Amino acid sequence: MALLFIAPDLEIPPYVDQLQALDPELDIRIWPEIGDADDIELALTWNHPLGELRNFKNLKCIASFGAGVDHILRDPNLPQGVQVTRVVQSSMPQFMSEFVILSALNYCRQFDIYKNDKVKKRWKPRIPLLARDICISIMGMGQLGADAATKLVQLGFTVSGWSRTPKTIPGVLSFAGDDALADFLSQANILICLLPLTSATKGILNRNTFEKLPPGAYLINVARGEHLVEKDFLDALECGHLSGACLDVFNIEPLPEDHPFWDHPNIMITPHISSLTDPKAVMPQILDNYHRIISGKPLLHVVDIERGY
Ligand code: NAP
Ligand code: GLV
Repeated sequence: MALLFIAPDLEIPPYVDQLQALDPELDIRIWPEIGDADDIELALTWNHPLGELRNFKNLKCIASFGAGVDHILRDPNLPQGVQVTRVVQSSMPQFMSEFVILSALNYCRQFDIYKNDKVKKRWKPRIPLLARDICISIMGMGQLGADAATKLVQLGFTVSGWSRTPKTIPGVLSFAGDDALADFLSQANILICLLPLTSATKGILNRNTFEKLPPGAYLINVARGEHLVEKDFLDALECGHLSGACLDVFNIEPLPEDHPFWDHPNIMITPHISSLTDPKAVMPQILDNYHRIISGKPLLHVVDIERGY
């Protein structure tokens, strides 16, 4: 029995080192050096080459390197009947909440404007936006959205969350389902996207959505680039309906050099780092599922393939 890393874009060694430290006996293979394909029972994946997983006829688990599984489920040749798991671990919401708090405070305290003032040697105090006057609306109230919502409430923001099913989170106004979306959006001074990418959420950050936001709203997209309809977004920025955005994820990653987002003064860009998978925190969870395969126990953090998350 062996565990295969199949993640061509990732820097694998820290993850392998961590797994080996936890279990020196583990048979670890790194794609494309797979050895005997029939040995592979768990594949740890991030943007695997589509169709490749069909080659492992004894596969029991396709594990995502991250919280999202869209990169797995987009494979039209995914082996049938193999469970797909994802990362659910406290380091993920910790990183993500820090990132969205930083972005929200950056917006309220207008740091981007002061950065520009520094370049121009301009001394110009501005009255900041008070947290209590700002409504932060979070799309997606799962492991990441719920944690961010709770922490933003503690900072004094008015916080609402949108999900498929209603939630009870102290201090957070819950909106559920498509019928509640317009009301949810109508209050959002800062809109944060923390949805999984599914057929229902692809392109959800579009013209219709932006039109329902109050004028001057700010967007933080930390979910997936394909949630955002780029042309609609640029139009909304151009006409001033959106005041700016912090984007961590993009349709094409790395973001191409000639992409208009790079030069836009009101767009903050980070390279898909809002919540990275920490090897030390996350590899024990992968190993646990590997041992569960051996002992025939149910796997943890299995996703619903039909639902898409
Ligand atoms: P999760 O625990 O599965 O939560 C997903 C949330 O979205 C749930 O609250 C779910 O509602 C809601 N949702 C799903 N489909 C919906 C729909 N059609 N309408 C309304 N709400 C819907 O996911 P998570 O672990 O929080 O992660 C969310 C996403 O963040 C991941 O899928 C990934 O794409 C992204 N992510 C990005 C980074 C990064 O570094 N940029 C890092 C980690 C994750 P219910 O609760 O009612 O089911
Ligand atoms: C990162 O994008 C993840 O899905 O964990």
